[in-house]
Order: sequence, then structure tokens, then C-alpha cells
Amino acid sequence: LRTGRGSAHAKVILFGEHAVVHGAPAVALPIDGLGVCATARLLDDVDDVEGSAAPAASDVERRPGESTIVTDVYSGPLDGAPELLESPRAVILACLEEFGLSGSGVEVTVTGEVPHARGLGSSAAVAGAIVRALADLAGAELSQELYLDLVGVGEKVAHGAPSGLDAHATAAAEPIIFEAGVARVLPHRTRAVIVVADSGVAGRTRRAVASVTSFLERHPLRGPALMAGLGALAQQGALDLAQGRPEQLGAKMAEAQGMLRELGVSSPELDRIVDAAVGAGAYGAKLTGGGQGGCVIALAADDEAARRVATAMRLAGAVATWQHRLEGSSS
Ligand code: MEV
Repeated sequence: LRTGRGSAHAKVILFGEHAVVHGAPAVALPIDGLGVCATARLLDDVDDVEGSAAPAASDVERRPGESTIVTDVYSGPLDGAPELLESPRAVILACLEEFGLSGSGVEVTVTGEVPHARGLGSSAAVAGAIVRALADLAGAELSQELYLDLVGVGEKVAHGAPSGLDAHATAAAEPIIFEAGVARVLPHRTRAVIVVADSGVAGRTRRAVASVTSFLERHPLRGPALMAGLGALAQQGALDLAQGRPEQLGAKMAEAQGMLRELGVSSPELDRIVDAAVGAGAYGAKLTGGGQGGCVIALAADDEAARRVATAMRLAGAVATWQHRLEGSSS
């Protein structure tokens, strides 16, 4: 039985969320310790390899030629999938069409550790893993451009007008700076630890993006100034990352948090976790991703400092924390 496999990983945005939607640069880091895997198999060519596989997990309810999705929230025909799976469903349908698999009856299984709606790029990571698995199943060439287009189909369903940053970041192996639809790998010489803390409150990227647009309409001077300020922090932060200046990087994260708060995309829960991280000795901390919920990132000097910061963030309400070491690259 033919099977295809694909994976993608979480990301954090170090600088530039929201401003990137309005053309400013942004810096994102891959979090390869948090991944999503997808497998895809053809259900309707069982005759090729007799008796080789157990029935599909979702096979029971399936009509011939119908595709199915298997996840921890729902397993069954694609057409009956709940709203939560609207984005992966759209990606699967686009891939089936693109790779000439329409009507073949494909089962796509998605497993992963990236929490949903926490600003860590779960929708782009799920989409990326699915695109790779279906391209692998079809034996199709997958250019970067086609990959991004297909992930973009899901991102549009997930949050309206995505900048493309998440699609790039969840596929990148190195930190990137992203501007005007183009991502460049960032050389980085910073040794520090990023602590990611989940506030336990679902982020609402679509709503947060809309509230920034409304801020820009209501504040024709201050709005663009904040966009430019966040963009400048991304440019300068990229230099700090390249030159190995974690203290300066942390100070810029704190500045960015102040601007994001003014734009209305932070929340009391996020502010409390940010303050706790800084109080416990982090160089700086800020929300990451869409905000109004989701995750906070803090920059700590080393593993020991990161443990202290993580404990403080949990005491301030975080329901889970992850640590990600910045090692610096050779370039
Ligand atoms: C979401 O992870 C990042 C935002 O900037 C939206 C986008 O870039 O599409 C809030």
C-alpha cells in the first residue's frame, strides 16, 4: 500500500508579528523540538498489495473514492470534518487536485505536539506536514513555491489575510527574516535560551489582526509609527542575533511588548507572564504570534536561568513551558 510522509515544526516570532501583515519585516525562529507529522495512504489501491494493511481507522464510514482524515479530535470522511479542521481539509483538497489524486480515496493521518491556537504556527505546521505527505504519496516534485502556495490555502482559511510568515517559518531550519513575502536565513551567533510559555488561553489571530487594522484606522499617526517601530526592532534585533548580543535582544523584546500592548493584542494573562519572566531575570519577554491569548517567549542567559524563568512563568499562570536553545550558526 502506498504511503507518503511529511513533517513540519512549530515556530516563534521574535519580532514583527502584526506589523508584518502591514509590510514590516519580522524575525521568526523554528522550534524543531515541537513537530507535526502526517502520513497519507491511498485507500483505493488495496488490490495492488493484497491484504497488506489493516483497514483505515476511518474506513468504516467511507464511500469508495472518498478521502478521510484521522486526528486526535476527529476521524472520518473529510466532508464531515468539524470546523476546527477546516484549514487542513482545504489543504488536503487542494493537494489532491494539484497532485492528481482527486477521487482516489486517500487517508491522511496527522499527529503532533504543536498546541493549537497558541501562536506557535500550528495551522501552518499541520498544513506543511500534509502537503509534504501528499506530495510524497504522489511521488510529485514539490518546489518551495508550490509548498508555500498549498500551505497558504490553509492559512487563508485559518486567519483571513496571512502574511506568509508562518508558512515560511514552519518549514525553515534556521531563523529567518521575512519581508514582503520573501524569507532570508539569518546568520546568528547568539547563545541563549528561549522559554516558550503557554498562557492556556486560545489566541485569536483573526480577531487580533482585525483589531490592529481597526487601530490603524482610528490612529492615523500613531498606528503607522507603531508599525514602523516594530519593523525597526525586527531589523535591529536581527543584527543583535547575528552579533551575539542577548541583552540587547531582550531589551528590544520588552520594547516590542510595549508596542504590541498599545495595539491591543496583549492581554492581562500575557502581561502577567511577561512581567514574571522579567522579574525572574529574563533579558526580555513578549507575546509571540497573534496574541490576545496564546504564548509568551522569554530570553534567558542559559539553561539554569531558563529553569528559573520557566518556574516564574508557570507560577504566573502559564499551563506549559518549553525551552529552546539558541546555539548560533556557523555562517
Ligand atoms: C501570526 O502567527 C502572525 C501574524 O503576524 C499574522 C500573519 O503574519 O499572518 C499575527
